[in-house]
Amino acid sequence: MLVLVGYATAHGSTREIAEGLGRRLGAAGLNVDVRPMNEIHGPAAYGAFVLGSAIHGQTWLSEAKDFVRCNGELLGNRPVWFFSVGMPGALRGPWKRMAYKEEPYIIESLPGDVPYRRHWLLSGVIRPEHLSRSGRLLFRLMGCRFGDFRDWPGTDSLADQIARELLGR
Ligand SMILES: Cc1cc2nc3c(=O)[nH]c(=O)nc-3n(C[C@H](O)[C@H](O)[C@H](O)COP(=O)(O)O)c2cc1C
Repeated sequence: MLVLVGYATAHGSTREIAEGLGRRLGAAGLNVDVRPMNEIHGPAAYGAFVLGSAIHGQTWLSEAKDFVRCNGELLGNRPVWFFSVGMPGALRGPWKRMAYKEEPYIIESLPGDVPYRRHWLLSGVIRPEHLSRSGRLLFRLMGCRFGDFRDWPGTDSLADQIARELLGR
């Protein structure tokens, strides 16, 4: 089975997570393509989809939502996993408790009602140069930390779950 790991990124961390998922799925014995969601031609060739986007303003980037919108029927007939890359890891103190409260909003903002096996909200990378001046101010007021908060063993374990389901092990 050919699996698509499709991603949308603004600053690269979601692409690297998608590549990590792809490598691990490949090592489990699956055929995998890792591609940006705005560069996918012939999506019907894929037997399963792992789709993820960076989050801006509690929603996926527009090219990722466009892909889901345009391929809703196809996705409805294949196993689908979603992942969103945000900044729960950057939050501290009382904000930390809020970190996963945005997950339902993210899911609700996805177009159509595509059935999916799981959604994961992951932490990515946030650097001062990614934000506007006002964004940096708000970020600091919330006591957030800049940095790389990706959890690579956790990413491997997501890929292992997906591989187990697809390979029936
Ligand atoms: C303009 C902007 C808005 C963001 N909005 C959110 C948000 O609403 N929720 C969140 O969890 N993370 C938010 N983030 C953090 C990013 O999703 C995070 O840095 C992610 O790793 C970016 O992925 P990328 O490197 O693939 O672009 C925002 C980042 C930027 C630059």
